[in-house]
Amino acid sequence: MSSPSRKILITSALPYANGSIHLGHMVEYIQTDIWSRFQKLQGHECYYVCADDAHGTPIMLRARGEGIEPEDLIARVWKEHTEDFAGFGIDFDNYHSTHSDENKACASLIYERNRDAGHIARRTISQAYDPEANMFLPDRFIKGTCPKCGADDQYGDNCEACGATYSPTELKNPVSAVSGATPIEKDSEHLFFKLADFEKTLKDWHQAGHVQAEMANKLDEWFEAGLADWDISRDAPYFGFEIPDAPNKYFYVWLDAPIGYMASFRNLCDKKGIDFDSFWKADSDAELYHFIGKDIIYFHALFWPAMLQGAGFRMPTSVFAHGFLTVDGAKMSKSRGTFVKARTYLKHLNPEYLRYYFAAKLSSKIDDLDLNLDDFAQRVNADLVGKVVNIASRNAGFIKKRFDNKLSATCSEPELYQSFVDAGDQIAAHYENRDYGRAIREIMALADKANQYIDDKAPWVIAKEDGKDQELHDISSVGINLFRVLMGYLKPVLPVMAADAEAFLNIEPMTWNSQAKPLCDHSVNKFKPLMTRVEREKIDAMIEDSKEDLAAEAKVIGKGAAQNTANSAIDPIADTIEFDDFAKVDLRIARIIKAEHVEGADKLLQLTLDIGDGTRNVFAGIKSAYQPEDLEGKLTVMVANLAARKMRFGLSEGMVLAAGPGGKDLFILNPDDGAQPGMRVK
Ligand code: 2FM
Ligand code: ZN
Repeated sequence: MSSPSRKILITSALPYANGSIHLGHMVEYIQTDIWSRFQKLQGHECYYVCADDAHGTPIMLRARGEGIEPEDLIARVWKEHTEDFAGFGIDFDNYHSTHSDENKACASLIYERNRDAGHIARRTISQAYDPEANMFLPDRFIKGTCPKCGADDQYGDNCEACGATYSPTELKNPVSAVSGATPIEKDSEHLFFKLADFEKTLKDWHQAGHVQAEMANKLDEWFEAGLADWDISRDAPYFGFEIPDAPNKYFYVWLDAPIGYMASFRNLCDKKGIDFDSFWKADSDAELYHFIGKDIIYFHALFWPAMLQGAGFRMPTSVFAHGFLTVDGAKMSKSRGTFVKARTYLKHLNPEYLRYYFAAKLSSKIDDLDLNLDDFAQRVNADLVGKVVNIASRNAGFIKKRFDNKLSATCSEPELYQSFVDAGDQIAAHYENRDYGRAIREIMALADKANQYIDDKAPWVIAKEDGKDQELHDISSVGINLFRVLMGYLKPVLPVMAADAEAFLNIEPMTWNSQAKPLCDHSVNKFKPLMTRVEREKIDAMIEDSKEDLAAEAKVIGKGAAQNTANSAIDPIADTIEFDDFAKVDLRIARIIKAEHVEGADKLLQLTLDIGDGTRNVFAGIKSAYQPEDLEGKLTVMVANLAARKMRFGLSEGMVLAAGPGGKDLFILNPDDGAQPGMRVK
């Protein structure tokens, strides 16, 4: 089936430029990438753009904590992010930054058009202000006692103990997470986007089927609650774009973040000569899709389409939300090692395993998705290695040894072959509807059918019989041809394996329809294994390594500001502990008597510490700052009664204390020489 070429622009949510990409993020990028690759294989004019979300207070404070400019921080993170995405085969047509000229221009334009149309209001509000840091405090940077239930150490906007939501001014005993000072109330004029102006437009848009059913229900609740004005300005100091007609005021990060989609595309258009307006003008016939997590629906299904409409641009064709990732049935956990960074995964496992597993479990629904590590290994091994690769490997040998790598001149099973080709429409419909799990089930049913065909024909028996060369040649050629059709269907999910299959098959890059006819009288190349089995030991090593990452980071005291991730915000200050808890910590002076590199560990040094009554072995995440030889003989402070932890490299019996923003600026606490190993630190 071929439909007329469509013009499609696809985006994934923009990750914050101060945190690492982790497997939770990868659900979305893999989901989007599969869709984009599928659309391109269909022959549509399709672009997939993204960018780093580079603005906001957390990024400003993070850079400050590291003693660098925000521009340097976001440049470093941009590089890390793009490398991580490339590692997983995420094939963006453009990966830009919201801190870009294009975004500044687009944000100003959208703001000014909305303002001129009367959709911006100004009024003075009172907000929490840190008199020491001289800045207004975002809700997440204020902590205190819940006004409803009295729980201590709650954020400025909601209580994790009782679930109450409130304004930070209601919080009791508030403290600034930036300086520790007690916030004061301070007035400031803010700019508001009048969302309620768009109530009818938004309702019509939702009712016209532009959002998923579950999302529509949520939106109905929000409509019932009423659409409030949205505060789009922040006072200096802030890392962002200054508002054109409001000196010292900046666009709130969430104002210019979705505009970053447009800006990234603008940047691509300028590089490639694509017609920007034909995608964004109000009556555009191009399609625009945003893939997002379920936590940011409000921004994408209310604010963003309203802002676009208010500025005279087209609205999105659809917003596709997905659920969160759990690992082995639970929220990703840093202590259990299931909070796996993209980079850590890539050190241990083939990215196509994860692409396949996520595809097999993804649907168009907003449900959470579980990465069950046993099931992951079992499924990849059974399906990809056991079924798909098996079809090629059990036939390639005959083709090579007996037929000089040439397929037979005709297809002996035209009906079987045609049934594989015909299944393509249904599989395409599943991809189109983002029901990848169903697409994969159909493809695996075909793989079973292909294997069954080979089992029934038993070419290994025929190979031993005289005068059956033609039959053997035909069976093996059918097997190879069926494999080719399956790889065409899997290509959006497994681009690397598909490219390797194309190399083996000696064919041009496949498109969705290029397998309509079987390869006959065609020479193939030498067969190489296309995928190896997932080994449980490698999964375990990845989990251990993720614990190590955390151990290395956790030792750094005062590591700068809060850091956002797609699924959660990391607290600026850890939960309060009682004095009794603190008193349990036995801090001792230790002499580093030996310091060594740890083979295979990026961040760790192995230290042998003398603490007066004997020695301790400790793995410390300070390799970025110290050469082992510089440490030997030095005194430091260690937590002597920390329960020993089994790490991948051995047993760690305590923890040394270090401070600093990280990287090279990480200092072990270094007491005076008057101290003696074993002395208690008070
Ligand atoms: O939630 C987040 O991680 C945001 N950085 C997503 C922004 S998506 C878009 F609006 F830019
Ligand atoms: Zn509470």
